[in-house]
Amino acid sequence: MEQQNDSFNALFEITRTINSILEPGALLEKVLEIAMTHLSAERGFVMLSDNTSESGYTVVALKNFNSKKASNEFAASSSVVTSVLQSGEAVLTFDAMSDERFESSVSIIAQKILSIICIPLRAGERISGAVYLDSSKSRKAFTEEAVKFLTVFGSLAAIAIENAQRYTTLEKENTRLKHEVDVSHLFGNIIGKSEKWKKVLEISQRVLDVDAAVLITGESGTGKELIARAIHEHGTRKGEAFVAVNSSALPEHLMESELFGYVKGSFTGAAADKKGLVEVANGGTLFLDEIGELPLLLQSKILRLLQEKEYRRVGDTVNRKANIRIIAATNKELAEEVKGNRFREDLYFRLNVVGIHLPPLRERKDDIPLLANHFVRKAAENYKRPVEGIHPEAMQLLLANQWKGNVREFQNVIERAVVLCRETQLTKDDFLFDSKDQAVLQKTGMTLADFERQLIETTLEEMNGNRTRTAERLGVSLRWLQYRIKEWGNE
Ligand SMILES: Nc1ncnc2c1ncn2[C@@H]1O[C@H](COP(=O)(O)OP(=O)(O)O)[C@@H](O)[C@H]1O
Ligand SMILES: [Mg+2]
Repeated sequence: MEQQNDSFNALFEITRTINSILEPGALLEKVLEIAMTHLSAERGFVMLSDNTSESGYTVVALKNFNSKKASNEFAASSSVVTSVLQSGEAVLTFDAMSDERFESSVSIIAQKILSIICIPLRAGERISGAVYLDSSKSRKAFTEEAVKFLTVFGSLAAIAIENAQRYTTLEKENTRLKHEVDVSHLFGNIIGKSEKWKKVLEISQRVLDVDAAVLITGESGTGKELIARAIHEHGTRKGEAFVAVNSSALPEHLMESELFGYVKGSFTGAAADKKGLVEVANGGTLFLDEIGELPLLLQSKILRLLQEKEYRRVGDTVNRKANIRIIAATNKELAEEVKGNRFREDLYFRLNVVGIHLPPLRERKDDIPLLANHFVRKAAENYKRPVEGIHPEAMQLLLANQWKGNVREFQNVIERAVVLCRETQLTKDDFLFDSKDQAVLQKTGMTLADFERQLIETTLEEMNGNRTRTAERLGVSLRWLQYRIKEWGNE
């Protein structure tokens, strides 16, 4: 259990590394370092496929090999590495010197190597390289458990390396085009220039043309769905379907038929065959919102969908192929869910190949003026108001306010101010920042209907109950207002 937890933590660290290192060289060093530390290996290297080299592979990172004699020393390991690259299977040996597989290797004996572990770097079907570790001291760290760990590690690392290489290419291209890429304009409707937000946009940018799963995390209302859509709309699957599913919306069995469809007669009421959302999304993107709420049974079916690209309709006997990209989102700490056995570890790692964490608004205060102006323009257009901007004093107020983290709430506050405003600039007075209002507005999960009702009630109060003046102020007809009020009376 202890060791499993260790492995878990190490893999967790690796997925974080994946997101933070964009430079391939540094990434490879780090990958090697993590593997060596975890297995207490003394030496190691990473090899990647390379069309320009004679052997087809090049050593791209190494530790504790004598670099002058490196080529001799690699000869020792070459039999191991070659077999791993060809078979795609990991090699583990405790007693290299007497292992008949390495009989011919003089240097294994010369260097008194006791144990060797070598795993393929595998991205999908393709083997893109290998990680080799050996030790002349310890045998105990090299266990079957370690092979399992390294195999998962190998696939995470392979994808990370590909992404980093792709990113470097992309970056070079961009620099060529223009000396500086302003990521803040890459996704038109997504606003933000703060360092943290730029990082979000950068990572989103590099997954556009990769089909890897993406896991978007962040508090509610931080823009998870917005980012998911942007990735879809700017990626290779643009123009195809984007199907959003809320994983907590339905009980398990209904969710299963919703996702995968069913065949006629598979349960009472199944009068005809029905397509599931996976099929509807075919060719496009399936967005699994609130994935942390997905029941365990369905987690395993989603895992299968990710790994085998296959699924089955409820009650069916044939497998169907799915061609979809999966983007998942959650406001939960999934690592914690895994530790509590509520979320499958393998699915977590599969999804988190690319993790994008969205910072709450309170951690990107620099973006407040940009966001505020953006929402002012949008609301002024929607509600046909003459508002053009925000008075500096009012902006000060917005900056000083303790936003809990939710961009949606922030947007509501601005919209409301725009609706109330009679001038061309929003002023302090338009914000009605008394503590009561703020408390109500900062409650999460407010719907548009709640918002509308609250706005009407506040305005009515302000107009001492005068409906004509309230309607005027809100820019709606008196009949519409009366209709709404009557509706609430009937609830
Ligand atoms: N960076 C941003 N730029 C523009 N609008 C944003 C941004 N972040 C969030 N929003 C707005 O906030 C609202 C909530 O975003 P959403 O993607 O639904 O959040 P989540 O899925 O995390 O709950 C949306 O209406 C979106 O337009
Ligand atoms: Mg959402």
